[in-house]
Amino acid sequence: MADTIILEVARFSPERDSQIGYQTFEVPLRSDWMVLDALNYIKDNIDGSLTFRWSCRMGICGSCGMMVNGVPKLTCETLIAQFAPGPVRIEPLEHFPVVKDLVIDMDVFLEKLQKVRPWIVRKDDRLPAREFLQTPAQLEAFHQYSLCINCMLCYAACPVFGLDQDFVGPAALALAERYNLDSRDQGAPERTDVLSQHDGIWDCTVVGECSTVCPKGVDPSLAIQQYKLTATKEWFKTWLLPWGNK
Ligand code: SF4
Ligand code: FES
Repeated sequence: MADTIILEVARFSPERDSQIGYQTFEVPLRSDWMVLDALNYIKDNIDGSLTFRWSCRMGICGSCGMMVNGVPKLTCETLIAQFAPGPVRIEPLEHFPVVKDLVIDMDVFLEKLQKVRPWIVRKDDRLPAREFLQTPAQLEAFHQYSLCINCMLCYAACPVFGLDQDFVGPAALALAERYNLDSRDQGAPERTDVLSQHDGIWDCTVVGECSTVCPKGVDPSLAIQQYKLTATKEWFKTWLLPWGNK
């Protein structure tokens, strides 16, 4: 194995540039280094102005997502050695506006998240007299969706979101399903109202890339298809049993 590897890193400064450019850096190639370690090496030893987000370094905070050779990855858990002999291209997550270098503007995602009310909704806001009990089977129904870390890799992989930024998108839909399937939640009808509209679940064309790139094993594509089924059943009910929905 060579001692070093070349990184082609996207650079963009809103005050200086009209479009993204690339800068080449040579960094040590270590078998235990992640892509994030290589970026930190550049920041500490070559160019302190290189800008990128990270926090936990253990695949939990969801802030270090970037395109690595064109694929959305958590850079803190992507070994750099697998790309030897290089070069390795590092870019900001696709489909999002760039703030600086490898940092994206995540506002569009946060707005979508808010829209699906990703928390337990109760009809009665008063605190219950005792805790809500839940069986292992009830927990299992939504558990995989609760593993989402909001890293947005699925949005960077989603061609529908790439074409239409109004599409609610994979993670927000998976989180909506996470709460809909939770036995303590009563917010499903409100979420279905929002998500049945244009730009909600029906825009998904079942490409499935969202589920392929998810680093936490969440299956947003499945959530969206489950949601489509639920929305269709609800729609039929309104026609077959109109009095039951008043
Ligand atoms: S569903 Fe997966 S890829 Fe999408 S934001 Fe959640 S953890 Fe990240
Ligand atoms: S630094 Fe937190 S997920 Fe990578």
